[in-house]
Amino acid sequence: MPESCKLDRKLDALLARRKSHGRLRRLSTTRPESADFSSNGYLSLSTNPVVQKSLLACLAAEVSASEDGNRPCGSRRSILGSGGSRLLDGNSPFAESLELKIAAFHGAETALLFTSAYDANCGLLGCVPQIGDVILYDELIHASVHDGMRMSRATKKIPFAHDSISKTSRRRCTDVGGSRLGRQSEMQGLDDTLRQISESEHVRSGESNVFICVEGLYSMDGDVVSLDEVVRSVDRHLPLGNGHIVVDEAHSVGIFGDDGRGLVSQLGLESKVWARVVGFGKAMGCAGGVVLCSSTTRAYLINYARSLIYTTSMAFTSLASIDVVYSYLMGGGIRPLRRRLESLIRHTHRQLSVLCDQLQVDRRTLHIQEVPSKSPVVPVFTAYPRDLAEHCQRFGFMVRPIVAPTVPAGSERVRICLHSTNTTGEIDGLCRAIGIWIQDRVAVARRRAEDDKVVEARDVFGWDKPRL
Ligand SMILES: Cc1ncc(COP(=O)(O)O)c(C=O)c1O
Repeated sequence: MPESCKLDRKLDALLARRKSHGRLRRLSTTRPESADFSSNGYLSLSTNPVVQKSLLACLAAEVSASEDGNRPCGSRRSILGSGGSRLLDGNSPFAESLELKIAAFHGAETALLFTSAYDANCGLLGCVPQIGDVILYDELIHASVHDGMRMSRATKKIPFAHDSISKTSRRRCTDVGGSRLGRQSEMQGLDDTLRQISESEHVRSGESNVFICVEGLYSMDGDVVSLDEVVRSVDRHLPLGNGHIVVDEAHSVGIFGDDGRGLVSQLGLESKVWARVVGFGKAMGCAGGVVLCSSTTRAYLINYARSLIYTTSMAFTSLASIDVVYSYLMGGGIRPLRRRLESLIRHTHRQLSVLCDQLQVDRRTLHIQEVPSKSPVVPVFTAYPRDLAEHCQRFGFMVRPIVAPTVPAGSERVRICLHSTNTTGEIDGLCRAIGIWIQDRVAVARRRAEDDKVVEARDVFGWDKPRL
């Protein structure tokens, strides 16, 4: 038997094991006619006609600039690809001026583009922390931070409880108490972890650096980090300034702050946050990422960040799309979109709580956050996420089940992602579909309970006597 067949057999066995745990991943496409309650494009910018026209105009201008120069084809400006790593032939005046524009918009000293926010996190955390340094990270932090940490030489990497930095999550856990769907983290909170770490000599003396990694908006629960509390804790325990906060703003940019500048900017904490990772693939409607940091950190990343050095840099088409989106933000274009989104968020919470009140559903079947967050991510907790998501999809509403290990076991949910182009009619339709699913489940549970009584009666009396 060829070795490749043996390998396939081994891989098949691993896939079968994953399937038996209900964790098999598959690629799927979304039916174009279904209402989108799943994608991360909260502001619908990728389908915004004004943004699309600006992009086409920018690309046309670039092509004609090449033609006007009457240059031979080989010396034309490259539009499809960048030609190499940023350090070799992949740099351009356009990329550099875009970085200046982005840094100025976010009130940062400098910006450095990466091909994705994943690469930005990997690059940053993979190379900056040195031997002797410590990374403290939210237990629910994104996989890209984990992958960056794996590459890092930091001596300690310590998780802390998410509940300790998120007010919404804290309330949810307390509300649910000991039920199966409740989840109280067993990990130590950030403040206690910082206190413990600061007792070590190298940290106390300021010799070791401590990196504290959080997200602005958590895309699974839709909760927002209590960043001011994080800053206070870091200042209290690391007064020598060796605590460095990293905020992943992949989901919070566009949604928070003036004209979408992000959470750090909304709270005026630019000087307290050492680095921000902004992603363009969510509310910004494009793809790519950027690290906002000091000029020294930027120079260090250019020298050591492997995900920047060893990859082809972004094509002009990507840079242009990011550029037109930033221009749109700067012109105040997203203000009405944000107002609309905020009203849809309120509407969704209202409709869902009416549904739960009317149907008196048990928490295991379905419950929602009692304190709704202001984010466009609305989790609907259920012990049956796949069943609920499939049901909604059959009704033409694209929602996805989120199961362990993406979220901790016991906090499975269906995630509703709202967009400024969703309509209240679509939201009402989705809530009606959820209502039908609840009623079906209740009916099935009732039938099962009655069947159980029949079996019980048969066991006790030896004949069918369903109503005792
Ligand atoms: C919090 C967070 N950070 C980083 C990323 C990576 O973003 P990108 O898709 O740009 O690689 C994601 C995407 O899922 C994310 O949710």
